[in-house]
Amino acid sequence: MRWAKYAGRDVIPLWVADMDFSAPPEVVDALQRRIASGLFGYGQPWPSLVEAVLEHCASEYAWTVEPDWLVWLPGLVSGLHVACRAVGDREHGGDGVFTATPVYPPFLSAPVESGRRLLTLPLVATESGWGWDFAAADALMRAARLFLLCHPHNPVGRAWREDELWQLAALAEKHDLVVCSDEIHCDLTFAGRHRPFATLSPEIAARTITLMAPSKTFNLAGLGCAFAIIPDSRLRAAFRAALHGIVPHVNALGLVACEAAYRHGAAWRRQLIDTLRAHAARVEQVVDGLPGLSMTSVEATFLAWIDCRGLGVEHPAALFERHGVGVSDGAAFGPGPAYAQYVRLNFGTTRALLDAALERIRTACGSP
Ligand SMILES: Cc1ncc(COP(=O)(O)O)c(C=O)c1O
Repeated sequence: MRWAKYAGRDVIPLWVADMDFSAPPEVVDALQRRIASGLFGYGQPWPSLVEAVLEHCASEYAWTVEPDWLVWLPGLVSGLHVACRAVGDREHGGDGVFTATPVYPPFLSAPVESGRRLLTLPLVATESGWGWDFAAADALMRAARLFLLCHPHNPVGRAWREDELWQLAALAEKHDLVVCSDEIHCDLTFAGRHRPFATLSPEIAARTITLMAPSKTFNLAGLGCAFAIIPDSRLRAAFRAALHGIVPHVNALGLVACEAAYRHGAAWRRQLIDTLRAHAARVEQVVDGLPGLSMTSVEATFLAWIDCRGLGVEHPAALFERHGVGVSDGAAFGPGPAYAQYVRLNFGTTRALLDAALERIRTACGSP
């Protein structure tokens, strides 16, 4: 999808969030073995796969997950929609769904398409990075039933600190919110360990739907395999009821890739993170040197959120595209035109392509 958009044009495609790196060889081997069986009937998660997921949660996040907390999904976007349908009701204009912008666009569309009322709060940009206006969140959450949290946050690249998570948790408890925490980027944090929102306390776990997948980390998005972790049985039953008959089973190859990635992908992932950290530093260095552009430092993901307001150009994404770099248009990441002068750049590509793209951006900005 990413490359097809600009087929036949000299545009380096750094938009949708997948990478130019082959999946770990152990994943490719496992898939080839599975394909060699020639049998592709209905699949379902098997015990060693479930064990691989639970072991990953235990070793990476010190989180003891029970097997029956898992609900398998073909993708996280499905999970966001199902969460919106499972929590609250459509009566009286629909219950409110709270989220903070700029944010991955399905956070904005899923509530609306599910008949809910979208409540958005802008994150605040400071010298040290993007953060929360907790007082404003408190006020807005009054009308909400569900909180869609992006952790780490796409597109601003923040891996929320524990103190920030605790403040959000306190607000979720105060307003009796269900929290759907999209943690798809959690294995791509550059420093320290990821802290799942649900691990803050058993009470928080009981109101949380955590969405995870191996897809971003191991470049498996096209295989469609993800899962929700829902410790509370009532919430889990509501989630299952909302997806029943609509959301398909995960395909057999996605499940195979998931097990192989979690079991054998650790060394590959460490190397990937070193590469991404270096790429992030390169993007930051170039952006810092370009008058009119700015960004805060990336703590996780392979995405850079670049503020282009200083360029004085109405539509920076179109400008960069004309100069041969296809970035995501910031306008899609918030309501109205709030982020039209921002772009999101995917640096999950080779160093050569990244350098070429940054050179083109430099030219687009009129810098020699
Ligand atoms: C925060 C976030 N959630 C979900 C997705 C997509 O998930 P899926 O492809 O599993 O639907 C992305 C993809 O970029 C993402 O960044």
